[in-house]
Amino acid sequence: MRLYVNIDHVATVRQARRTDEPDPVRAAVLAELGGADGITVHLREDRRHIQDRDVRLLMGTVRTGVNLELAAASEILDLACELRPMQATLVPEKREEITTEGGLALSVPTQLDATKRALARLSDAGIRTSLFIDPDEASIRASVDMGADAVELHTGEYANTTGAERLAQIERLNRAASLARKLSLAVHAGHGLTYENVHPVAAIPEIEELNIGHSVVSRAVFTGMEAAVREMAEIIRRSRSHA
Ligand code: PXP
Repeated sequence: MRLYVNIDHVATVRQARRTDEPDPVRAAVLAELGGADGITVHLREDRRHIQDRDVRLLMGTVRTGVNLELAAASEILDLACELRPMQATLVPEKREEITTEGGLALSVPTQLDATKRALARLSDAGIRTSLFIDPDEASIRASVDMGADAVELHTGEYANTTGAERLAQIERLNRAASLARKLSLAVHAGHGLTYENVHPVAAIPEIEELNIGHSVVSRAVFTGMEAAVREMAEIIRRSRSHA
């Protein structure tokens, strides 16, 4: 199980003042010291947090691997193909959303086509590809048909529920993870995961990578990035060994 730490919100704090601190590049170094297996950033079309400069510098400084989240937009795809991160995760993007709200809508022909084209460009550039999808059978089968290397299962609905509904969402993630694995996709998961709710997701055996951002950066404000990552990595390790 790999923990990829999403450092977008370090850049959010910086952009609140359009200054040069806190620097996500420094955050990445500390996250790696705390045990992160990789660094995730989302270069949004509106550049609300991560900037092109950040991605360029991270490509030269991150020692683990960079997972670049991006929408199927030509300008960002150009940059991805130039910089060639270890992995690119295609996500849907809406300008007015606070954060990525759902997985790629692969049942919508225009989104399917755009995703297919973007995936082909990234693969041709030698970049490992992942698609951020809702944990449902149709999206998994569409991802296989497109030739994605991995899918990242959206855990937002799980994170937003409680009680019996939460158990149902874990079951849904379990089913999706085992189908994706059976169809030879690597399985990742993320969105809305916290120190309190990560355990049942981390215990799903087919999931090999978690992408966690907001909760880790929030804790890092109080404990420092290195300690915050170390603590999350330890919870994941324990969830796995008790699964
Ligand atoms: N995975 C994807 C595809 C995302 O877009 C995000 C948010 O940028 C995350 C994971 C991390 O979500 P969170 O910040 O809620 O941990």
